[in-house]
Amino acid sequence: MADGVDALRATPFPVVDPERIPTKRYYDEEFFRLENERLWTHAWQMACRLEQVQNVGDYIEYTILGKSVIIVRTKDGVKAYHNACRHRGVQLAEGHGNCETQGFTCPFHGWRWNIDGKCTFVYGKHMFSEHQLDQGDLALPECRAEEWGGCVFINFDDDARPLRECIGPLADRLDQYQVDKLRAEWCYGTILPANWKVAMEAFMEGYHVMRTHPQLHEAAGPLYQSMYQEPPGTALPVNPKLSARDNVLAQFRHMELLSEGMAGMCHAKDVATASKLLDVDLPEDPLQGMMTWYGMLNAEVTRQGRERGEPTPDLNALAVSHPIKAVEFIFPNYFLLPFLSSMSAYRIRPLGPESCMFEIWSLTLFPEGQEPEPVMEPIMLPYDSKEFPPIPQQDYSNIPRQQIGLHAGDFEFMRLSKDIEGLISNYQRLIDGYLKGAPKEKLAKAQHELGGNFDGPIKDLGL
Ligand code: FES
Ligand SMILES: [Fe+2]
Repeated sequence: MADGVDALRATPFPVVDPERIPTKRYYDEEFFRLENERLWTHAWQMACRLEQVQNVGDYIEYTILGKSVIIVRTKDGVKAYHNACRHRGVQLAEGHGNCETQGFTCPFHGWRWNIDGKCTFVYGKHMFSEHQLDQGDLALPECRAEEWGGCVFINFDDDARPLRECIGPLADRLDQYQVDKLRAEWCYGTILPANWKVAMEAFMEGYHVMRTHPQLHEAAGPLYQSMYQEPPGTALPVNPKLSARDNVLAQFRHMELLSEGMAGMCHAKDVATASKLLDVDLPEDPLQGMMTWYGMLNAEVTRQGRERGEPTPDLNALAVSHPIKAVEFIFPNYFLLPFLSSMSAYRIRPLGPESCMFEIWSLTLFPEGQEPEPVMEPIMLPYDSKEFPPIPQQDYSNIPRQQIGLHAGDFEFMRLSKDIEGLISNYQRLIDGYLKGAPKEKLAKAQHELGGNFDGPIKDLGL
């Protein structure tokens, strides 16, 4: 074997057949430990939203698997520090706040650091050896931090490839949609009794809509039928037995359902725009009619957004030049769900082999100067809370049951569709790439294959 292959590490429960995902990956403690050691310490992860650190001195803590990092806005831009007092390791900052004038004071013996991570006070200095007081050694060590998409991402690996190189062309596509100008309206969080990957995989295909979200399927049956039921390309995303107008009304109902309970999956302002377009003149042919209507809706969402002073992109132009999927996944644990003017975002963090934290943001564009106050923390709800919008509620109801089912006897692997559950296989095999220590350039390149891969096929990742 070539040297490079020899050097790769053995991994437990690898994905050998890309259509079959070994069940133990979702609860085995050793596998979880290896993910911690080889994935989470090397992958870029969304640590906070930029507006959470918008003024000099603003800081917010990010935690992942027992590690804590402070993200701070300094005069020289956003930085991240490992969150531990250099004396005896007490966590320096908790939650969020502003450290511009006070810096950080350790609650144990009162040592202090300024916003730039420089140690400014050691109580009873004369009692310490000279070399214990070396300024370079006492400074707060920095953690890699880079910005994209209105967020700060951190990486514990000083040799990691740059963030944008990892996200790849998807970052450019989403930039066209002004992803960096979106602002959070709200954030909900919950703890799910499931492995973080089980929770994520509920959002990597639309194949589950028929059974999990029957109301969506009922409203736009032909749309889903064209995607999941008939052989590809043989069904129309409209009902040919209904008039163009009735098809549009069904689409509109679908949008209302996506928006219900402020689900953020279709912004209320876009539903309002659509509601004014229900009696426009349309071609009689249902498919032509629907396409015309969507063109008008895109144009109107763009026009009205700009009229309000929002930096709305030209949605019709982008649909041609920079098409994106309804769900875009940024490995390893961040999702953006763009629809018309707005997006929702999901972040899923492991807490243990069978427990994870799931956060949902509603993001939209605002006129400059009229942005809302930053949302500093999620509103935490039990995962089965009726306060969650109906669609996440339905998704969350399956996740803990799936985690239980994975332990059942004789269930050794999941059986994926090669055509539309490919993203699950692809990102799982990218995890294997991290676990076995594949070269970083290859990992970054493999990640590019995940852009636009929602409902997509199994791919060769070159790993
Ligand atoms: S542990 Fe922080 S000052 Fe002693
Ligand atoms: Fe769903």
